[in-house]
Amino acid sequence: MRNSNILIFHVLLLLSSIFGFNLATKNGETKCKEKERRALLTFKQSLDDEFGMLSTWKDDPNADCCKWNGIQCNHQTGYVQSLDLHGSETGYLSGEINPSITELQHLKYLNLSYGFYNGKIPSQIGKLSQLRHLDLSWNGLTGAIPFQLGNLSQLQHLDLSNNELIGAIPFQLGNLSSLESLRLGYNFDLRINSQSQDNVEWLSNLSSLRNLDLSGVQNLNNSSHHTLKFLRKLPILEELSLSNCSLSDANMHPLYDSHLNFSTSLTLLDISENQLTSSMIFNWILNCSSNLQHLYLSNNLLRGTIPDDVGTKMHSLVSLDLSDNSLEGKIPKSIGNICNLETFVAGDNHLSGEISDFITHHSNNSHCIGNVSSLQVLELSNNQISGMLPDLSILPSLRELYLSYNKLNGEIPTTIGSITELSDLVLSGNSLEGIVCESHFTNLSKLELIDLSYNSLTLKVTDDWVPPFQLRGLGLSNCNMNSRFPNWLQTQNELSYLLISIVTNLPSIPIWFWSKLQTIELLDISNNNLTGKIPNLELNLTNNPTINLSSNQLEGSIPSFLLQAGTLFLSNNRFSDLAPLLCTKTKPTNLQFLDISNNQLKGEFPDCWMNLASLKLVELSNNKLSGKIPFSMGNLVNIEALNLRKNSLSGQLPSSLKNCSNTLSWLDLGENMFHGPLPLWIGDYLHQLRTLSLKFNYFNGSLPSNLCHLRQLNVLDLSQNNLSGGIPICVNNFTSMVKDTVSSPTSIDVDFELLLMWKGELREIAYMFLKTIDLSSNHLTGEIPTEMEYLFGLTSLNLSRNNLSGKIISNIGNFKSLEFLDLSRNHLSGRIPSSLTHIDRLTMLDLSNNQLYGKIPIGTQLQSFNASSFEGNSNLCGEPLDRKCPGEEEPTKSQVSTTNGGDESSIFLEALYMSMGIGFFTGFVGLVGSILLLPSWRETYSRFLNTLILKVFKWWKQ
Ligand SMILES: *[C@@H]1O[C@H](CO)[C@@H](O)[C@H](O)[C@H]1NC(C)=O
Ligand SMILES: *[C@@H]1O[C@H](CO)[C@@H](O)[C@H](O)[C@H]1NC(C)=O
Ligand SMILES: *[C@@H]1O[C@H](CO)[C@@H](O)[C@H](O)[C@H]1NC(C)=O
Ligand SMILES: *[C@@H]1O[C@H](CO)[C@@H](O)[C@H](O)[C@H]1NC(C)=O
Repeated sequence: MRNSNILIFHVLLLLSSIFGFNLATKNGETKCKEKERRALLTFKQSLDDEFGMLSTWKDDPNADCCKWNGIQCNHQTGYVQSLDLHGSETGYLSGEINPSITELQHLKYLNLSYGFYNGKIPSQIGKLSQLRHLDLSWNGLTGAIPFQLGNLSQLQHLDLSNNELIGAIPFQLGNLSSLESLRLGYNFDLRINSQSQDNVEWLSNLSSLRNLDLSGVQNLNNSSHHTLKFLRKLPILEELSLSNCSLSDANMHPLYDSHLNFSTSLTLLDISENQLTSSMIFNWILNCSSNLQHLYLSNNLLRGTIPDDVGTKMHSLVSLDLSDNSLEGKIPKSIGNICNLETFVAGDNHLSGEISDFITHHSNNSHCIGNVSSLQVLELSNNQISGMLPDLSILPSLRELYLSYNKLNGEIPTTIGSITELSDLVLSGNSLEGIVCESHFTNLSKLELIDLSYNSLTLKVTDDWVPPFQLRGLGLSNCNMNSRFPNWLQTQNELSYLLISIVTNLPSIPIWFWSKLQTIELLDISNNNLTGKIPNLELNLTNNPTINLSSNQLEGSIPSFLLQAGTLFLSNNRFSDLAPLLCTKTKPTNLQFLDISNNQLKGEFPDCWMNLASLKLVELSNNKLSGKIPFSMGNLVNIEALNLRKNSLSGQLPSSLKNCSNTLSWLDLGENMFHGPLPLWIGDYLHQLRTLSLKFNYFNGSLPSNLCHLRQLNVLDLSQNNLSGGIPICVNNFTSMVKDTVSSPTSIDVDFELLLMWKGELREIAYMFLKTIDLSSNHLTGEIPTEMEYLFGLTSLNLSRNNLSGKIISNIGNFKSLEFLDLSRNHLSGRIPSSLTHIDRLTMLDLSNNQLYGKIPIGTQLQSFNASSFEGNSNLCGEPLDRKCPGEEEPTKSQVSTTNGGDESSIFLEALYMSMGIGFFTGFVGLVGSILLLPSWRETYSRFLNTLILKVFKWWKQ
């Protein structure tokens, strides 16, 4: 008996070591396995746990790892069966996935989503044979998908989406016959294995698949247009995402006329971000998917109207996204009749008609329960919707209403105050008028975002109004505020976005307002003619905000708290003192963009740039700063653009600026009093320079040939100095000018372009399209080097007012893009090369006051210029000069067509060049003016700004 007891004991012991029964726990519960505990600790060691998510994972031999955070063990066996370490806003893990995790042989559930895991997916995961759920989505995983995952025969859910995986998707995944959900979307560069003919056949084996996400897979659109045919075989598919797969109509076609097994099961279809143009897609969807609830077709090229059937056949639709296409016509009434529709998004199309065309009370014969709409999100921004806003109380569930940049008119009905769920109200850029007052907002306690900018609305509320809401974003640009500062902003404690620009008669800013900056991320109160000073307060600007106070009449010193901004635009004001901003000891700064141009800054140029290495742009042009550029400016090692034009700076340039060589692409020191020879370090170090302007200074000496090392240069302006000597023959090393294309933007350009766009200074962006050389008004001698003929991309060349001699380069006709050519007031001799007639874009030409002779070559262009372009050359003859060439008959009046009506898109550039021509004489003032007068560009800019902000806002709300 005893023996048999012992035997049983031993058997149990044996069993326990095989099956993991742990008899050793005191309280009868099973404790985790030592081997697994150690594996988990090894796993932890490869991770960076900055949020303490694994603080319960202690290296203590008595610790029960089953009780650790994120772990679940099997109650009977004590083996770890679930490991859930997904991240969230409040915390996440980063680091590599240690293969030690594969010691957890009984693991059924592994969720590491929303972390910052990097490195590769360990192929050993293929050994976790019990695994049913594997979720590694939303990380930074790289490399290929290990084919060993095809061994996980029990796997039901595989989510590797939103990583940076590359390479072929292993066909072994076709072995996963239990797989219900396969999500591989939004990776870096995944491909369907394209070696075999039937490269996607394995996908049709996944007959249990309910959920398939192949968004962003690169070659689904490949050669064979039948790639998508595997879809026909999946019998119970519920969700299908093929966003951003470069699909064309031809890729979809084979599906249109075939039976799809999943037609009744499909509830979600996402084919957004492809290249579909034909509205055939609607017919297909209508025929193949009767129970669809979510349909995403945004960001395609769809044309035509939205078929009426969409509303009548798709009764189950809950969300419909058609935004960013080219759809036109009215929105069918039937869409308003879909009972369950909660989200309807169709912004950025050409839709017309009125809101009331489709938003009406549900008719009695609809199948809806009750007659009110369930619509929660309505987004129709950037269309041509006209008419008045209807009584929106028929949309009692509405949360988000985006109707900006349409053609709405009339007043905002006060019934809007009854939509108690409303959180976003965006009506900017319409022709709405009338008064907006407190009663519009009575019950809107959930409002977070209001944008009424760019209408003709008047805001009229009492000074002591306490609104029922707490806003995150407010746009009131171009509204009439009745000469009152919105005092009610004092009650708003969570403001992140505040846009109040272009408001007439806005009183000066009250002191309390500045403390609002502590929560702000974006403040734009530009263009208001605001007067007064900014008080010197102790504030903590925690969000490194973007602050735009430009185009006001603010004066005095710039207080140091503003140095905590990320972007600071103060141009076009009357600020006089820069030192308090830069030179007060303050908190560490992250300031990247600083623009104080067009102010009255005076005094010595401050020498306080030591701790400002974050700066990317310093724009201080058009002020009255004097003294030298201090050595400490060399600390700006991230600077991309430095503009000190039009000050009273003097001395020589500090060589420390060569430390800025990595990034500096824009250097404008023109219109100052710098002297000395052109520094050699410019050519030797500043290799990223695209624009170099030193014009209107006292630089002397010759042009160093090492300037030719600046291969990226697009704009070289050294005019109006005392430079002498010849033009270096190495000019053909300006590689960027040799190309006649606009070089593709670098990340610096993009940064910069956005910034300038934001500022509304299209002038500088326009500069980027130009390739110009201006050496005018110096004392240059010698000939124009023939090497110059290789600068095919040049749009403007000005060598006037020098002492150049010799001939005009004979192949000057190579400058196919040339619009502006001024060689006047030199000693050029010889004939005008006939190739000049080949440049048909030339809009400004001046060859006057040289020693040219002979007949002006005949060509429509040259004869269309004024005679003054050729005057002062005593031996020139022929049209347009009055002087006939010897032995020539009365010339026939040739029809002369000057400007060719370019297409719409080039009108901007044309205007730009035109004013460039003038601009060379009047500075760039004319240029700015003409661009800002172009209505389409003004609109583009304000739209851009608004859209950007809305996008940021939406993104941030998610
Ligand atoms: C993993 O966790 C995330 C976050 O909670 C969750 O959304 C996701 O559904 C989980 N994955 C699986 C496969 O359960
Ligand atoms: C600011 O003042 C200028 C000149 O006084 C005026 O032309 C402009 O319309 C004013 N702007 C605003 C927004 O009031
Ligand atoms: C700013 O922050 C500092 C410490 O970070 C704190 O001492 C100070 O009171 C804060 N100032 C304001 C105005 O909140
Ligand atoms: C111009 O480019 C050529 C070839 O790339 C190079 O050999 C030469 O040194 C360059 N000259 C100057 C002055 O940069």
